[in-house]
Amino acid sequence: MKKYVQVGCGIRGSAYNQTLTSGKFDDCAELCGLYDLNPKRAQVASERCKVHPEVFTDFDEMLQEVKPDTVIVTSKDCTHDEYIIKSLRAGCDVISEKPLTTTFEKALAIQKAEKESGKQVRVTFNLRFSPFYKQVKEILASGAIGEIYSVNVEWMLDTHHGADYFRRWHRERANSGSLLVHKSTHHFDLINWYLEQEPLYVHAFGKRRFYGTNQPQPAERCLTCEERCPYYFNIDRTPHREVYLNCEDADGYKRDKCIFSDEIDIEDTISISVEYSGGALLTYSLNAHCPYEGHVFTFNGSKGRLEVRSSYQSSTTSYGQSHTQNSILLYDRAHNCTEIPIAEADESGHGGADGLLMEGLFRGKPEDPLCQFADTWAGMMSIGIGMAANISMAENRRVALSEFYEELK
Ligand SMILES: NC(=O)c1ccc[n+]([C@@H]2O[C@H](COP(=O)([O-])OP(=O)(O)OC[C@H]3O[C@@H](n4cnc5c(N)ncnc54)[C@H](O)[C@@H]3O)[C@@H](O)[C@H]2O)c1
Repeated sequence: MKKYVQVGCGIRGSAYNQTLTSGKFDDCAELCGLYDLNPKRAQVASERCKVHPEVFTDFDEMLQEVKPDTVIVTSKDCTHDEYIIKSLRAGCDVISEKPLTTTFEKALAIQKAEKESGKQVRVTFNLRFSPFYKQVKEILASGAIGEIYSVNVEWMLDTHHGADYFRRWHRERANSGSLLVHKSTHHFDLINWYLEQEPLYVHAFGKRRFYGTNQPQPAERCLTCEERCPYYFNIDRTPHREVYLNCEDADGYKRDKCIFSDEIDIEDTISISVEYSGGALLTYSLNAHCPYEGHVFTFNGSKGRLEVRSSYQSSTTSYGQSHTQNSILLYDRAHNCTEIPIAEADESGHGGADGLLMEGLFRGKPEDPLCQFADTWAGMMSIGIGMAANISMAENRRVALSEFYEELK
């Protein structure tokens, strides 16, 4: 039986604490403690669990008292490093939500602490567990399009889910590292995983076109705003009332701030080029203000081309997606196009990814032939692209990841 504790008891944290206390893993895993900077939110999280883990008001005390095998880190992105490093030094393994962290300095400090501790960090890139993205991995790994020369990725967020990043702590670069780190880490990880190559050089352009100061800001937040603009967010409903609104007096955090605020300092329109160690080229764009959500991936290889499309309606009330339409088309050199039947997914979050991820994390996966579990290096590589892109935009230059990561020299 493994003992777990968790730091960060927001909405994503609840996916872990509710799963661990659901009874499904009673034979192998016990959640023995919760900690959050906002003690009220930790209390709410505990109450919402089927079995109520003890709430601690001090992280170090939780480690000392519980002596957990593994710490689950689901706090705000820029705080991951502090908890990962403390946990490793206390002799614990770590399960960390993406992104691993938000700066090169913090990433290197995590890597050093992991090496010194002999313990292990797992970064939970849940998309690797989604039957759809796993299927794409299997097709590419089978050599169906031969050596991959280039990849184009267009990722779309809509004005429902996409706008949500501009209301919350994510809208400040200091918290999230920008969408290029917070959000694109998922996408860069998928591409790194598919290519099995390391990103070397990054050149990026980015702007804020839709959110921020583009329109008047009638109020600080939706709750007190008399205008019901198309982006109105109702925080006074389940689960946001319990998790955020009722806990505001403990830390002052407001989850429904106006998306047209001048506090916002992240981009919503981004274009990036990346060159990889094996010669593959990535062209990536992220638009956070589209009429629908989804993506188009195209892989051009020595033997053909793979086109992967997904579109869906987003939701800010859960991590579910609805009306998903996925397609995979394989083109060969003889001009044949084959439509590949899509793998089935269960109802768990992120297209069936979350259920399979949790199963693998808590029950274990005897074999991992597709390398679905991501380590610290994979975490560093995916945020490396986003952080290098931030530097590229700020300094208007091509950035080499080897400027920060010795291993790439
Ligand atoms: N894999 C995914 O699909 C996915 C989806 C959503 C979020 N996430 C990740 O999960 C993490 C949490 O995101 P969320 O959506 O639950 O956000 P959230 O705002 O709901 O929760 C974050 C929690 O961290 C707490 N916190 C802030 N600063 C802290 C500190 N210094 N010490 C301890 N706790 C602190 C907050 O009080 C809050 O309860 C983030 O790292 C995010 O990137 C991953």
